[in-house]
Amino acid sequence: MGHVPVLLEEVLEALQPQDGETYVDGTFGGGGYALRVLAAADCQLYGIDRDLDAITRAEALAEQRPRLTPLLGRFGDLDDLLATAGVTVVHGVMLDIGVSSFQIDEGDRGFSFMRDGPLDMRMGQTGPSAADVVNHMSAGDLMTIFRQLGEERQAKRIANAIVARRKSEPFKTTLDLAQCIEDAVGGRRGKKTHPATLTFQAIRMYVNDELGELARGLAAAERVLAPGGRLVVVTFHSLEDRLVKQFLRERSGATGGGSRYMPEVAKGPEPSFELKRRKATEPSEAEIKDNPRARSSRLRVAVRTDAPAWTQTVETGKSVLPLKQLEAAL
Ligand SMILES: C[S@@+](CC[C@H](N)C(=O)[O-])C[C@H]1O[C@@H](n2cnc3c(N)ncnc32)[C@H](O)[C@@H]1O
Repeated sequence: MGHVPVLLEEVLEALQPQDGETYVDGTFGGGGYALRVLAAADCQLYGIDRDLDAITRAEALAEQRPRLTPLLGRFGDLDDLLATAGVTVVHGVMLDIGVSSFQIDEGDRGFSFMRDGPLDMRMGQTGPSAADVVNHMSAGDLMTIFRQLGEERQAKRIANAIVARRKSEPFKTTLDLAQCIEDAVGGRRGKKTHPATLTFQAIRMYVNDELGELARGLAAAERVLAPGGRLVVVTFHSLEDRLVKQFLRERSGATGGGSRYMPEVAKGPEPSFELKRRKATEPSEAEIKDNPRARSSRLRVAVRTDAPAWTQTVETGKSVLPLKQLEAAL
């Protein structure tokens, strides 16, 4: 089965596609958002994805749709990717963070603890895999990843179990790792979710540097959006939503102002975004019923002002071992 786009109508409503404008979909996936945007206005759309399978799908769709240009790469580099295509300014950026159903459903990609496959979990086809993470990182580094990116309360127990088990045999498959985690935490104990859920999420987020990508992608969007351009971000996870919320609060000046005791608190640069709504948009009950995967999705929207992009980098607030360091140690 393909990927069912979430909050699709709300995304369209936020982007407001217009004839003659140029948009970027930083997470092309199955093209659910992109195709609707292309149908809604006589616009140009650049579809970025780091997954070659998604770009192969995009290229097939582009054969019949000359206004669609697929670009293989990471949305953290979206301004550089657009520059290679000769584009420096756009009127809208969409990001739909996370994995697609295509990726989860394909056992060979190693994302799911429900399907056996090689322990991979990379969306792009480069860099350390999930197997590299669990077979090479120290128990302390693993624990930090499980705690910070998975908010897993049994992080220490799981990390120690992984390190003990790999001494006799390295991990190769998803089910092998899932079983080790289940054994470590004492089975399911009546819980609805699988005991490996948060650990798998943490490893996936680490292997793909998902929070780092989001931080870089938001800053890159800020640099390429024209005044009046729309930034539309859908997340599935509270860590990601928090990052988007903080970025937009800061860049829209909602956090500045100091207090009456400290009236001279340094004001940031001119706001580069205007918030359309302070609160995130959530899916309707009807959407959740049709597509339970939509349950945790959150949409945030902001409009670019004419102030220059800020030069401050966007921080993820997490302190896991840098992926480059793991790569160098392998
Ligand atoms: C949730 S799906 C997007 C689905 C899409 N909105 C649709 O309607 O079909 C996320 C997609 O983003 C891609 N992706 C995730 N992180 C990325 C990144 N940093 N750079 C580029 N693509 C990324 C994944 O490979 C996946 O195909």
